[in-house]
Amino acid sequence: MKILAIISSPRRKNTYNAIKEIERIHKQHYDCEYEYLFLNKINLEGCRGCHICLTKGEEFCPLKDDHDVIVNKIESADGVILASPNHTMNVNWRMKNYIDRYSYLMHRPRYFHQRFLILITSGSYRGIKQASNALSLMASGGKVIGRIGIMNSPGMNDKKREKQSKKLEKEATKFANKMKKPFNYKPSFGHLVWFSAFKAVYKGEADESLADYRYYSKKKFFVDMKLSFGQKFTLKLFNGLFGFLIRIGMV
Ligand SMILES: Cc1cc2nc3c(=O)[nH]c(=O)nc-3n(C[C@H](O)[C@H](O)[C@H](O)COP(=O)(O)O)c2cc1C
Repeated sequence: MKILAIISSPRRKNTYNAIKEIERIHKQHYDCEYEYLFLNKINLEGCRGCHICLTKGEEFCPLKDDHDVIVNKIESADGVILASPNHTMNVNWRMKNYIDRYSYLMHRPRYFHQRFLILITSGSYRGIKQASNALSLMASGGKVIGRIGIMNSPGMNDKKREKQSKKLEKEATKFANKMKKPFNYKPSFGHLVWFSAFKAVYKGEADESLADYRYYSKKKFFVDMKLSFGQKFTLKLFNGLFGFLIRIGMV
């Protein structure tokens, strides 16, 4: 089993140490392989906000860097840990750049076979939720099976430190146990509605949003798989409903 940890802190300190601890605990349960990907060591240039990935497609991004390397690593992993320190009540700038560079994944999801753990380290509890919510968008179709927010301010006493390390141990154990179980993608109701809505919206957007139009017009569902009668019915129903809402100008 392969776990990829994507870390946006430039330091090998709180966030890195938390992942090292997760790895140690995980390996107490069974054999698995951890790979660390540091965003400050990889060449991921700053998003220019040109919208080309959203409209034409990510393959037309003018930035030539390690964009695809990261995607390939995620797709060949079983589990992915997305980890950022809390900087001013959100993820730090490197992770925000990561989010923006892969923003198109919110339109055209792809990590359906991966499970994700979101890790935020922070001085206090404030901002952990915002950072965690921002980062979980990057699971992009994958299943978020855990969220950990760990505090480690310099003024913390031993009792509080102990509490945080117990919390980390508990969450890391949960993550290990969930990862241990075999994982086969099952379409959730949310995914069925998401797909129906986007397919209906981008049906008439071949000029404005070619990439989304192509993605949705080619597919019957996000994942090429056998769907049950109920799932097909849900897709049809919501596709019709969103189509109708678009025609009457409500969407
Ligand atoms: C620029 C900057 C902004 C920060 N903003 C916050 C904040 O808003 N709230 C908070 O609780 N901690 C904040 N912190 C503290 C870090 O989130 C915390 O120390 C974190 O664990 C650092 O992780 P690292 O050691 O992996 O870099 C900030 C730290 C830095 C450097």
